[in-house]
Amino acid sequence: MTARPKAELHVHLEGTLEPEDMVRFAARNGVELPWQGPEELRAAYSFTGLENFLSVYFQGCQVLCIREDFRELTVAYLQRAAGQGVRRAEMLFGPQAFLDRGIAIGDQIGGIVDGIDEARETHGIDGALLVSAHRHRSEDDALELLELVRPWRDRVVGVGLGGAERGNPPSKFARYFDAARADGYRTTCHAGEEGPAAYVAAALDECHVERIDHGYAAATNPDLVARLADDQVTLTMCPLSNLRLHVTDDLTTYPVKRLLDAGVPVTVNSDDPAYFGGYVNENYAAVTDALGLTEAEVKTLVRNSFSGSFAHPDELRGAL
Ligand code: ADE
Ligand code: ZN
Repeated sequence: MTARPKAELHVHLEGTLEPEDMVRFAARNGVELPWQGPEELRAAYSFTGLENFLSVYFQGCQVLCIREDFRELTVAYLQRAAGQGVRRAEMLFGPQAFLDRGIAIGDQIGGIVDGIDEARETHGIDGALLVSAHRHRSEDDALELLELVRPWRDRVVGVGLGGAERGNPPSKFARYFDAARADGYRTTCHAGEEGPAAYVAAALDECHVERIDHGYAAATNPDLVARLADDQVTLTMCPLSNLRLHVTDDLTTYPVKRLLDAGVPVTVNSDDPAYFGGYVNENYAAVTDALGLTEAEVKTLVRNSFSGSFAHPDELRGAL
């Protein structure tokens, strides 16, 4: 699996912050953490669900303060991903938590694009940035985010929506996705992680997004599965994340295989690898072992990762 070229379509840059780097950034920026060191941090990574995880994740975000932090974080993830055979990495990043702390959008995005450019030179990996709004905030906040990001329009491939899903349906963000599309962004939305299958349908019907992040709950609804297959909607699934956040407690019933059999373009991704115990290859290994996936099925997952990417088709020649 290591050398097999692949794309990763669902990873949060903030979720790639390894405990050692969190502690290092905290010391360098004078930020106090409630944990003493990397071991204590790892021991704290036992989550009861998405919202409980997000509270730890946002505490981790507090150590990222200056442009250099964002550059180093980006390079570290892309170097690691390249080492796992990732050729194209589409990275979600949520500026709102950093804007709250007065960190300029130019320092955030500037550091990330510096990191993308450096990793392209050094490791030959094609990194792409997707800006993600928090669904537990208002739609007006999300619209304001689009305005703030406008100067970097040519360096941001797409927009997404993450954060606490329950009680925050995609329909709340229909205008945000409309505005993003009008600006020429590609679109993706977290749906059906802790939320119901109806949220996946709403992301398609009301927000008209191109891709669904997770989409786990879609597998419970045969009509929706048929639709995802008919319309070839890519699902960016994250097995280790779903396990660690108790979306599922058993990967032997994980719906990747059933969705593949139904013709849905499923992909395998890491979500927040520093928190969930594995990068993209560990996620492939987990589902391959639990479900006994065949070589042909793994090949399909890998092919789906490229065909579902937001890269220009010319950039993908040879990969498909
Ligand atoms: N932000 C970071 N990780 C997330 C996840 N698993 N679900 C929703 N939002 C997130
Ligand atoms: Zn995610």
